[in-house]
Amino acid sequence: MANLLTNPPRLPLIAPSILSADFFRMGEDCKHILNVGADLLHLDVMDGHFVPNLTMGPALCKSLRAGLPGAFLDVHLMVTDPALFVAPFAEAGANHITFHTETMPPPKVRDLAKRIRGLGLTAGLAINPPTPIEPSLDLIPDFDMVLVMSVNPGFSGQKFMGEVLAKTRRVRSVLGPHQRLEMDGGVGEANSGQVRDAGCDVIVAATAIFGKPAADRARVIGALRGSN
Ligand code: DX5
Ligand code: ZN
Repeated sequence: MANLLTNPPRLPLIAPSILSADFFRMGEDCKHILNVGADLLHLDVMDGHFVPNLTMGPALCKSLRAGLPGAFLDVHLMVTDPALFVAPFAEAGANHITFHTETMPPPKVRDLAKRIRGLGLTAGLAINPPTPIEPSLDLIPDFDMVLVMSVNPGFSGQKFMGEVLAKTRRVRSVLGPHQRLEMDGGVGEANSGQVRDAGCDVIVAATAIFGKPAADRARVIGALRGSN
Protein backbone atom coordinates (compact mmCIF):
# COMPACT_ATOMS: atom_id res chain seq x y z
CA MET A 1 0.00 0.00 0.00
CA ALA A 2 2.91 2.39 0.59
CA ASN A 3 3.22 3.12 -3.13
CA LEU A 4 -0.44 4.08 -3.62
CA LEU A 5 0.53 7.63 -4.60
CA THR A 6 3.57 6.98 -6.77
CA ASN A 7 2.19 3.87 -8.44
CA PRO A 8 -1.60 4.16 -8.22
CA PRO A 9 -3.92 1.39 -9.40
CA ARG A 10 -6.30 4.01 -10.84
CA LEU A 11 -6.64 7.77 -11.08
CA PRO A 12 -8.01 10.06 -9.82
CA LEU A 13 -7.72 8.86 -6.25
CA ILE A 14 -10.55 9.94 -3.94
CA ALA A 15 -9.45 11.01 -0.46
CA PRO A 16 -12.29 11.64 2.00
CA SER A 17 -11.24 14.07 4.72
CA ILE A 18 -12.29 12.51 8.01
CA LEU A 19 -12.65 15.98 9.51
CA SER A 20 -16.32 15.74 8.52
CA ALA A 21 -16.81 12.15 9.66
CA ASP A 22 -18.90 11.56 12.76
CA PHE A 23 -16.28 11.61 15.55
CA PHE A 24 -18.51 9.37 17.68
CA ARG A 25 -18.52 6.74 14.93
CA MET A 26 -15.07 7.41 13.49
CA GLY A 27 -14.01 3.79 12.99
CA GLU A 28 -17.26 2.76 11.33
CA ASP A 29 -17.36 5.85 9.10
CA CYS A 30 -13.78 5.22 7.91
CA LYS A 31 -14.35 1.51 7.32
CA HIS A 32 -17.53 2.21 5.38
CA ILE A 33 -16.04 4.91 3.16
CA LEU A 34 -13.17 2.63 2.15
CA ASN A 35 -15.65 -0.17 1.44
CA VAL A 36 -17.70 2.03 -0.88
CA GLY A 37 -14.80 3.15 -3.08
CA ALA A 38 -12.57 5.68 -1.31
CA ASP A 39 -8.89 5.11 -2.09
CA LEU A 40 -7.37 6.56 1.07
CA LEU A 41 -8.16 8.57 4.20
CA HIS A 42 -7.11 12.23 4.51
CA LEU A 43 -6.33 13.35 8.09
CA ASP A 44 -6.48 17.12 8.66
CA VAL A 45 -4.16 18.00 11.53
CA MET A 46 -4.54 21.55 12.91
CA ASP A 47 -2.67 23.18 15.77
CA GLY A 48 -4.76 26.29 16.54
CA HIS A 49 -1.80 28.43 15.45
CA PHE A 50 -1.06 27.94 11.75
CA VAL A 51 -4.85 27.77 11.36
CA PRO A 52 -7.60 28.84 13.77
CA ASN A 53 -8.83 25.35 14.66
CA LEU A 54 -7.81 22.21 16.57
CA THR A 55 -8.54 18.78 15.19
CA MET A 56 -6.64 15.50 15.56
CA GLY A 57 -3.21 14.14 16.44
CA PRO A 58 -1.05 11.01 16.21
CA ALA A 59 -3.27 9.07 18.67
CA LEU A 60 -6.16 9.05 16.22
CA CYS A 61 -3.80 8.02 13.40
CA LYS A 62 -2.55 5.14 15.56
CA SER A 63 -6.08 3.93 16.26
CA LEU A 64 -6.99 4.08 12.57
CA ARG A 65 -3.84 2.14 11.68
CA ALA A 66 -4.70 -0.53 14.25
CA GLY A 67 -8.30 -0.84 13.11
CA LEU A 68 -7.67 -0.52 9.37
CA PRO A 69 -4.29 -2.17 8.71
CA GLY A 70 -4.57 -1.85 4.92
CA ALA A 71 -5.76 1.78 4.72
CA PHE A 72 -3.52 4.44 3.18
CA LEU A 73 -3.35 7.31 5.69
CA ASP A 74 -2.62 10.72 4.11
CA VAL A 75 -1.72 13.19 6.87
CA HIS A 76 -2.12 16.91 6.07
CA LEU A 77 -0.22 18.95 8.66
CA MET A 78 -1.63 22.45 9.05
CA VAL A 79 0.74 23.30 11.89
CA THR A 80 3.36 26.00 12.45
CA ASP A 81 6.18 23.53 13.20
CA PRO A 82 5.60 20.41 11.08
CA ALA A 83 9.08 19.01 11.86
CA LEU A 84 7.86 18.30 15.40
CA PHE A 85 5.15 15.95 14.18
CA VAL A 86 6.82 13.92 11.45
CA ALA A 87 8.24 11.19 13.70
CA PRO A 88 5.08 10.88 15.86
CA PHE A 89 2.87 10.42 12.79
CA ALA A 90 5.33 8.01 11.17
CA GLU A 91 5.31 5.95 14.39
CA ALA A 92 1.52 6.15 14.43
CA GLY A 93 1.36 4.43 11.04
CA ALA A 94 0.91 7.28 8.55
CA ASN A 95 1.79 6.43 4.95
CA HIS A 96 2.16 10.00 3.73
CA ILE A 97 2.79 13.43 5.28
CA THR A 98 2.07 16.77 3.62
CA PHE A 99 3.29 20.03 5.18
CA HIS A 100 2.96 23.66 4.12
CA THR A 101 5.54 25.63 2.14
CA GLU A 102 4.58 28.73 4.19
CA THR A 103 6.00 27.22 7.40
CA MET A 104 9.76 27.38 6.68
CA PRO A 105 12.41 28.61 4.24
CA PRO A 106 13.21 26.50 1.14
CA PRO A 107 16.37 24.72 2.44
CA LYS A 108 14.42 23.50 5.49
CA VAL A 109 11.54 22.42 3.26
CA ARG A 110 13.96 20.19 1.35
CA ASP A 111 15.43 18.77 4.58
CA LEU A 112 12.02 17.90 5.96
CA ALA A 113 10.95 16.21 2.71
CA LYS A 114 14.13 14.11 2.94
CA ARG A 115 13.38 13.20 6.55
CA ILE A 116 9.84 12.10 5.70
CA ARG A 117 11.05 9.98 2.81
CA GLY A 118 13.87 8.61 4.96
CA LEU A 119 11.23 7.24 7.33
CA GLY A 120 9.70 5.32 4.41
CA LEU A 121 6.73 7.65 3.86
CA THR A 122 5.86 9.72 0.83
CA ALA A 123 6.07 13.51 1.19
CA GLY A 124 3.72 16.26 0.09
CA LEU A 125 4.08 20.03 -0.22
CA ALA A 126 0.96 22.12 0.39
CA ILE A 127 0.36 25.69 -0.73
CA ASN A 128 -2.32 28.08 0.51
CA PRO A 129 -4.54 30.07 -1.88
CA PRO A 130 -2.78 33.45 -1.49
CA THR A 131 0.76 32.00 -1.71
CA PRO A 132 2.44 32.35 -5.12
CA ILE A 133 3.78 29.08 -6.52
CA GLU A 134 6.87 30.43 -8.31
CA PRO A 135 9.23 30.41 -5.26
CA SER A 136 8.25 26.80 -4.51
CA LEU A 137 8.58 25.38 -8.03
CA ASP A 138 12.22 24.34 -7.49
CA LEU A 139 11.21 22.32 -4.42
CA ILE A 140 8.71 20.13 -6.24
CA PRO A 141 11.21 17.46 -7.43
CA ASP A 142 11.78 16.58 -3.75
CA PHE A 143 8.12 15.63 -3.27
CA ASP A 144 5.77 12.83 -4.23
CA MET A 145 2.72 15.08 -4.20
CA VAL A 146 1.76 18.76 -4.30
CA LEU A 147 -1.41 19.81 -2.50
CA VAL A 148 -3.05 22.99 -3.79
CA MET A 149 -5.43 24.40 -1.20
CA SER A 150 -8.66 25.68 -2.71
CA VAL A 151 -9.85 27.26 0.55
CA ASN A 152 -7.94 29.01 3.31
CA PRO A 153 -7.30 26.05 5.61
CA GLY A 154 -8.98 25.66 8.97
CA PHE A 155 -12.49 24.41 8.42
CA SER A 156 -14.53 22.06 6.28
CA GLY A 157 -17.50 23.38 4.36
CA GLN A 158 -15.98 26.52 2.84
CA LYS A 159 -16.54 27.80 -0.68
CA PHE A 160 -14.18 26.60 -3.44
CA MET A 161 -11.80 29.33 -4.64
CA GLY A 162 -11.66 28.91 -8.42
CA GLU A 163 -8.79 31.37 -8.74
CA VAL A 164 -6.35 28.65 -7.62
CA LEU A 165 -6.94 26.67 -10.82
CA ALA A 166 -4.35 28.70 -12.79
CA LYS A 167 -1.69 27.89 -10.16
CA THR A 168 -2.80 24.26 -10.26
CA ARG A 169 -2.17 24.06 -14.01
CA ARG A 170 1.27 25.59 -13.50
CA VAL A 171 2.11 22.90 -10.93
CA ARG A 172 0.80 20.17 -13.23
CA SER A 173 3.15 21.37 -15.99
CA VAL A 174 6.23 20.60 -13.85
CA LEU A 175 5.16 17.25 -12.37
CA GLY A 176 6.58 13.92 -13.46
CA PRO A 177 4.55 10.72 -13.99
CA HIS A 178 5.08 9.45 -10.42
CA GLN A 179 4.07 12.71 -8.75
CA ARG A 180 0.50 13.41 -7.74
CA LEU A 181 -1.45 16.68 -7.61
CA GLU A 182 -4.01 16.95 -4.82
CA MET A 183 -6.73 19.55 -4.38
CA ASP A 184 -8.32 20.24 -1.03
CA GLY A 185 -11.17 22.51 -0.02
CA GLY A 186 -14.70 23.04 -1.25
CA VAL A 187 -14.53 20.27 -3.83
CA GLY A 188 -17.82 18.56 -4.63
CA GLU A 189 -19.85 17.07 -7.43
CA ALA A 190 -20.46 20.46 -9.06
CA ASN A 191 -16.81 21.45 -9.50
CA SER A 192 -14.84 18.17 -9.50
CA GLY A 193 -14.76 18.26 -13.32
CA GLN A 194 -12.87 21.57 -13.25
CA VAL A 195 -10.51 20.16 -10.63
CA ARG A 196 -9.74 17.08 -12.76
CA ASP A 197 -9.40 19.24 -15.89
CA ALA A 198 -6.76 21.35 -14.12
CA GLY A 199 -4.73 18.15 -13.72
CA CYS A 200 -5.55 17.04 -10.20
CA ASP A 201 -5.39 13.31 -9.64
CA VAL A 202 -6.04 13.17 -5.90
CA ILE A 203 -9.30 14.77 -4.79
CA VAL A 204 -9.98 15.56 -1.13
CA ALA A 205 -13.55 16.07 0.01
CA ALA A 206 -15.04 16.28 3.49
CA THR A 207 -18.50 17.88 3.30
CA ALA A 208 -19.31 16.56 -0.17
CA ILE A 209 -18.87 12.98 1.08
CA PHE A 210 -19.61 12.89 4.81
CA GLY A 211 -22.33 15.52 4.48
CA LYS A 212 -24.36 12.94 2.53
CA PRO A 213 -26.22 9.95 4.00
CA ALA A 214 -24.08 6.80 4.12
CA ALA A 215 -26.20 5.17 1.41
CA ASP A 216 -25.34 7.96 -1.06
CA ARG A 217 -21.58 8.04 -0.51
CA ALA A 218 -20.61 5.42 -3.13
CA ARG A 219 -22.40 7.48 -5.78
CA VAL A 220 -20.70 10.72 -4.66
CA ILE A 221 -17.28 9.06 -4.80
CA GLY A 222 -18.03 7.93 -8.35
CA ALA A 223 -19.12 11.44 -9.29
CA LEU A 224 -15.96 13.00 -7.85
CA ARG A 225 -13.92 10.48 -9.82
CA GLY A 226 -15.84 11.40 -12.97
CA SER A 227 -16.97 7.82 -13.51
CA ASN A 228 -20.74 8.15 -12.94
C1 DX5 B 1 -9.36 22.48 5.16
C2 DX5 B 1 -8.91 21.03 5.21
C3 DX5 B 1 -9.70 20.22 4.26
C4 DX5 B 1 -11.16 20.22 4.60
C5 DX5 B 1 -11.97 19.98 3.38
O1 DX5 B 1 -8.71 23.24 6.04
O2 DX5 B 1 -7.56 20.90 4.85
O3 DX5 B 1 -9.20 18.91 4.06
O4 DX5 B 1 -11.48 19.28 5.59
O5 DX5 B 1 -13.30 20.15 3.69
P1 DX5 B 1 -14.40 20.41 2.56
O6 DX5 B 1 -14.27 19.33 1.53
O7 DX5 B 1 -15.68 20.38 3.31
O8 DX5 B 1 -14.08 21.76 2.00
ZN1 ZN C 1 -6.71 18.73 4.14
